[in-house]
Amino acid sequence: MNLEKEFEEALDKIDLNKEPPATEPSRQYYFIKKCREMVRQQSEHLGRRLTASTVTFGCQMNARDSEKLTGILEQIGYEIIEDEHADFVIYNTCTVRENANQRVYGRLGALNSIKKKNPHMLIALCGCMMQEPKVVEKLKQSYRFVDLIFGTHNIYKFAELIATRYDSGRMVIDIWKDTDKIVEDLPSERKYPFKSGINIMFGCNNFCSYCIVPYVRGRERSRNPKDIVREIERLVADGVVEVMLLGQNVNSYGKNLETPMSFAGLLKEIEKIEGLERIRFMTSHPKDLSEELIETMKNSSKICRHMHLPLQSGSSRILKEMNRHYSKEQYLDLVDRLRSAVPDISLTTDIIVGFPGETEEDFLETLEVVREVRFDSAFTFIYSKRTGTPAAAKDDQVPEDQVKNRFDRLLKEVQEISREMSARYTGAVLPVLVEEVNDHNNNYMTGRLSNNLLVHFPGTPQLLGKIVNVHLQECKGFYYMGEIVI
Ligand code: 5AD
Ligand code: SF4
Repeated sequence: MNLEKEFEEALDKIDLNKEPPATEPSRQYYFIKKCREMVRQQSEHLGRRLTASTVTFGCQMNARDSEKLTGILEQIGYEIIEDEHADFVIYNTCTVRENANQRVYGRLGALNSIKKKNPHMLIALCGCMMQEPKVVEKLKQSYRFVDLIFGTHNIYKFAELIATRYDSGRMVIDIWKDTDKIVEDLPSERKYPFKSGINIMFGCNNFCSYCIVPYVRGRERSRNPKDIVREIERLVADGVVEVMLLGQNVNSYGKNLETPMSFAGLLKEIEKIEGLERIRFMTSHPKDLSEELIETMKNSSKICRHMHLPLQSGSSRILKEMNRHYSKEQYLDLVDRLRSAVPDISLTTDIIVGFPGETEEDFLETLEVVREVRFDSAFTFIYSKRTGTPAAAKDDQVPEDQVKNRFDRLLKEVQEISREMSARYTGAVLPVLVEEVNDHNNNYMTGRLSNNLLVHFPGTPQLLGKIVNVHLQECKGFYYMGEIVI
């Protein structure tokens, strides 16, 4: 039975004349049904369908959470659009770096003007930024037009919170400090019919000294492997061929389960799912990357040839200050082991410049590691001071002009290497998952290689979601132009 039908049958059994059930997910089914009624009434009153828009900031975890939020909005009757003039706008926020916060405040100002012209519009804010008490304080003081504020731990309650807002007519705020709860079987709306993110765990226990994530996403919790496999099996039955397993540190998956299981163990279970073609995952912490995982990747025909392995810094001294639990030598050794086991693996990374106390020598070590590893691509970040993290309290913050100078030098190096590394498959014929009609030319399609690089080639939308062999004719920096080989 398809997911949609199963969900409708569960909703049919709900009686709105009774009290809401105490257990999940039934309780949320109750509120979804209740909200449907409210949306229907308002829609009738206005003589048109109500619209909703979800705006996502930040990482893939947030993107996945947004699919869940959108799924609920769609289930309660909103037409989903990509336009902030909608009747319901939700911002799923990020707070990993300060500039993400500033962007949210800026855009909220613009939303207020839209709301003045459309008074029944509802504005909701959720995600990592809302877990910071000083943010919520600021919103309460200066952004009274916001209708609903909740955090990262209770997004499953979205329908219930909307119902509370409808009933009370007032700003609703519901932020939890932490949770050990994982609610299964809620609706979600996939951005692509053929690929999907899957949460395998939530939260992070690592407390890297610069990072706010453990404070806003809470302690590490792994989902039960049976629930994960069941979710993927259902998705595959619904047309999904590629999954991206998501967690802040997937390599420590399963440690706190009643029956512990390793991440490699989980991968082996997922590999068995018939009809699933590709498995991706992110993010891997170098300190927990096991030999078993390397072996599993080597022997797998489905796990993609890509590993995102954040380096953060190439100086062992700074890595210690960052609380990363590995040295430069250990990182390099890990890269060697990965490349000998899986020679065609693509390695990508994250690097922070300007961590407090970083000297020119430390920075040169980072450059050295970059040259030695030759990453396929790297995300480079300027250190951002996050209140409440240990690094924010350090008094040796690096002057801005030095940070900028180092950042520019790093970026140049990373890009040059990335260009050379990306071109190494020129002339090869490789399988590509067709993902989109090309942005610039309707007669072209855009697909993704196992190593995560994009390829553009002549084709038609009938190919969407299929895996085809493409001749990689020319590398244009960070992507290929190619042609299908039949
Ligand atoms: N400043 C700059 N970059 C950061 N990251 C995490 N916290 C910070 C911070 N305070 C980067 C790390 C991480 C990526 C998701 O964001 O490189 O891997
Ligand atoms: Fe932040 Fe470190 Fe956890 Fe990644 S592993 S989310 S960088 S604390």
